[in-house]
Amino acid sequence: MFQLNNVTKAYECRGQTVNALNKTSLSIGDNEFIAVVGPSGSGKTTMLSLLGGMMAPTSGEVLFHGESLYDMSLVERTKLRLRSLGFVFQSFNLVSWLSAIENVQVPLSLAGESASAQQERASELLSRVGLSDRLNHLPSELSQGQQQRVALARTLANDPRIILADEPTGNLDPESREQVMNLLSEFHSEGRSVVMVTHDQFAAQHAHRSLSLVDGTIVDTPLATNAA
Ligand SMILES: Nc1ncnc2c1ncn2[C@@H]1O[C@H](COP(=O)(O)OP(=O)(O)OP(=O)(O)O)[C@@H](O)[C@H]1O
Ligand SMILES: [Mg+2]
Repeated sequence: MFQLNNVTKAYECRGQTVNALNKTSLSIGDNEFIAVVGPSGSGKTTMLSLLGGMMAPTSGEVLFHGESLYDMSLVERTKLRLRSLGFVFQSFNLVSWLSAIENVQVPLSLAGESASAQQERASELLSRVGLSDRLNHLPSELSQGQQQRVALARTLANDPRIILADEPTGNLDPESREQVMNLLSEFHSEGRSVVMVTHDQFAAQHAHRSLSLVDGTIVDTPLATNAA
């Protein structure tokens, strides 16, 4: 599904060059659940951004189903992102002045769905993440775990094939953490893929394969015993 070929990402910052990824290659198959681990600053978020079509590499190529992501036009790449990819961030990124249901409606509205179809699908997704009784709450009126579940419902709205998650459990208490990981495992068991950056050992155990990033280089460690 994804292929990184000899990818380097260098950031130039005030005369200093940081190679966040360094000539790294990697193959990610269909229906994988991958945990990406590694110390702070080792290039994990950089790798997710490259996979997600959000940032071009300095050299090397990123293939998605055999097609070079950064040789596509911006329009093609954006379409692919809207159609196939879902993102989950540590800090939820909910729109603070929209209710839970309105937040989930945002991608549906962007995809051109009618207002009634948006509402129906958004409330179905919020039920799926256990929030059918919080549809009209603002993010500030929800707990951290509930906010992350609204964010997950929003991510699922466009029915993505792949979820790219950056520390999805970083801000959560143990119970919410378990709910979020169960949702991601369920998503994976439906035949989809998850690439998840995490510092959290509990979260990593849900993955079937683990990648370590050390100074911008990927070390692949299959986790045969970790199948969730
Ligand atoms: N926009 C930027 N400009 C300059 N350097 C950057 C930029 N973004 C990241 N870096 C550098 O690239 C390296 C990798 O950053 P990245 O955000 O990918 O790390 P990370 O593994 O996600 O870390 P963390 O676990 O702390 O989130 C870091 O050394 C960082 O300082
Ligand atoms: Mg990061």
